[in-house]
Amino acid sequence: MSRNQEPVLVAPSLLAADFLHLDSEIRMINGSEADWFHLDIMDGVFVPNLSFGFPVVEKISEAAQKPLDVHLMIIDPDRYIHRFREAGASVISVHYETCPHLHRTLDFIKKTGARAGVVLNPHSPVSLLGEVIREADLVLIMSVNPGFGGQKFIESTYEKLTELRELCAKKNATPLIQVDGGVDLSNAGALVKAGAGILVAGNAIFRSREPLSVIRRMKNLHV
Ligand code: DX5
Ligand code: ZN
Repeated sequence: MSRNQEPVLVAPSLLAADFLHLDSEIRMINGSEADWFHLDIMDGVFVPNLSFGFPVVEKISEAAQKPLDVHLMIIDPDRYIHRFREAGASVISVHYETCPHLHRTLDFIKKTGARAGVVLNPHSPVSLLGEVIREADLVLIMSVNPGFGGQKFIESTYEKLTELRELCAKKNATPLIQVDGGVDLSNAGALVKAGAGILVAGNAIFRSREPLSVIRRMKNLHV
């Protein structure tokens, strides 16, 4: 099965940016070929780490000239969806593992005008999404256990992407397919081949000496 001909989207994860110079990091991404800003929100409960909250997201939104893709690693995300939308989020993704009423949560996100994403942890099988796949604008497959940047990519992600494409075909669903965690130039080509349409990358971009060239090379991957 070959991927459709849509261009690959690249979403740099600001978690790996230099927070002391966030303004220049954002300007660098504004001037790059990247498509979205990926913002990782962590609550110290669902994941064993804290990141940043509304004041920082609002400031990023003022400086960013591309859509904000907000990845919520928080319990009970319904409580904060409106506030993230108000803070500037265009895409809001919630973890399957945090949503007992996922169908309702996705609907809630869409009603705010944002695109709704659902995220699967590495241990959660794709089959869990069977009944909601048509409600999701985006499915994010985690290729590390969420909570930290700079972790090792989990190889079974490729198989999961294939299963997700099969599920989408079976259910006649067309969500965007995103991969997040340990993505770099060594695996990006294979991920796109396996079905990923959006690549999230933190360290591979912000810790590179040539971030613009890394982004360009990721953008130019086609199957
Ligand atoms: C992990 C986050 C990722 C992380 C990716 O919980 O969801 O978005 O920032 O960072 P890298 O690309 O460095 O693995
Ligand atoms: Zn993320």
